[in-house]
Amino acid sequence: MQHIDVIEASRLKVQQHLDSSKTQAERNKLGQFATPSALAVDILEYARTLLPPRQRIRFLDPAFGTGSFYSALLKTFPRSRILSATGYEIDAHFAARAAELWHEESLHLSNADFTKQLAPSSDNDRANLLISNPPYVRHHHLSNEDKNRLKMLARRSAGITLSGLSGLYCYFMCIAHSWLAEDGLAAWLIPSEFMDVNYGRAIKEYLLNQVTLLSRSPVRSRRCSV
Ligand SMILES: C[S@@+](CC[C@H](N)C(=O)[O-])C[C@H]1O[C@@H](n2cnc3c(N)ncnc32)[C@H](O)[C@@H]1O
Repeated sequence: MQHIDVIEASRLKVQQHLDSSKTQAERNKLGQFATPSALAVDILEYARTLLPPRQRIRFLDPAFGTGSFYSALLKTFPRSRILSATGYEIDAHFAARAAELWHEESLHLSNADFTKQLAPSSDNDRANLLISNPPYVRHHHLSNEDKNRLKMLARRSAGITLSGLSGLYCYFMCIAHSWLAEDGLAAWLIPSEFMDVNYGRAIKEYLLNQVTLLSRSPVRSRRCSV
């Protein structure tokens, strides 16, 4: 068994423990639904086929959880290709356990609200591989104050005006736009409801006009895959 498989097995136990220590209502409020390991690996393997073979990776997961995508990154890419890896996680319990799990790796993990962080000012510091299962938090869990702040940030970052009915994942996608390098690749695991509802028009506009949509599989660039 490879070292990464051992850590992944521990991660899954930690994930299960954290999930069962919370009520459904608590998990809904923060959109805490983990990505299955096999799907995370599939997404990273697909991303690998889209990137230049020797390109060094600056990885970002803005909604880290325990690190399913980081784990898949380490399984899929040799360490020599990983230049940096950054994660944000708002929940102190998840962030603490993730920090323990990954302490041997050079991961920059912050226990912080991603939407309150400043995007890097230089393209060289922006991520060229952003993989995320952003929090699926319905709009009625967001305060008016938060909606106004998030709307302003989304407009500034991606030039998109989101409706007040948008879920948190829509704001995540638009705000993360300014974290992505010019030729960066992003994959977003998001609910397909945006295709059918009025508030989703702004997300369609983003995917059609602000990035190059590479694939619409159950898996973005400034190239993008959703
Ligand atoms: C859908 S889960 C995905 C977790 C992990 N990346 C995975 O794929 O298994 C979303 C995660 O985002 C975290 N989260 C929610 N709001 C956040 C915010 N504003 N900033 C950073 N993390 C946040 C939640 O606590 C949760 O762990």
